[in-house]
Amino acid sequence: MQVLAFAATNSKNSINKQLVIHATDVLKSDFDTSAEIEVIDLNDYEMPIYSIDRQNEDGVHPLAQKFFDKITEADAIIISFAEYNGNYTSAYKNVFDWASRIKMAVFQDKPVMHMSASIGPNGGANVLSIADKSAPFFKADLKGSFSVGPFAEKFDQEQGVLKDADLSAKLREGVEALVDAHYANIKLAS
Ligand SMILES: Cc1cc2nc3c(=O)[nH]c(=O)nc-3n(C[C@H](O)[C@H](O)[C@H](O)COP(=O)(O)O)c2cc1C
Repeated sequence: MQVLAFAATNSKNSINKQLVIHATDVLKSDFDTSAEIEVIDLNDYEMPIYSIDRQNEDGVHPLAQKFFDKITEADAIIISFAEYNGNYTSAYKNVFDWASRIKMAVFQDKPVMHMSASIGPNGGANVLSIADKSAPFFKADLKGSFSVGPFAEKFDQEQGVLKDADLSAKLREGVEALVDAHYANIKLAS
């Protein structure tokens, strides 16, 4: 199975990226050793701020198509959201707005796991709630969702693993559900 994973942020030392990498490690080591994982960096999808005029003049930006195609190729998606002022980072919102102009169903009915991490105790729960509520509208088949905060307390940054047992269980449940959904989809198609 092909897994696409990313942190919805453009910071170089992203705590959300650490969480994403941990989730993909657990998926591959404990649930599907044949999984092929691709972790993308939103810095590689930096585009001018979306505007209807830009789109009318030049069409959809090629990087938006590239991002959309990554989702098309994936069997499951793992995203960890950084929270800026209670909402998405502008880096993610811009990529998402561009991609939504290709198709509103950006997530194309793929199984998706949402996470969020913040330095503070709220763990990015506000942005996670926004992402979770809109998942059906954008055709994300949400299989798991949890937030991690304060990150330094709940995550061992040297080992790159969650040290909180409840959160670790949620992560394992989520990745297992992604793997199960993928193999159930294959069965349905055959
Ligand atoms: C502009 C800005 C706004 C932020 N707003 C919030 C916020 O609303 N809630 C929160 O918990 N943390 C907030 N933070 C702190 C981020 O959660 C923190 O920087 C975190 O490391 C971002 O995730 P990342 O490291 O994966 O990029 C904000 C940070 C910035 C730079």
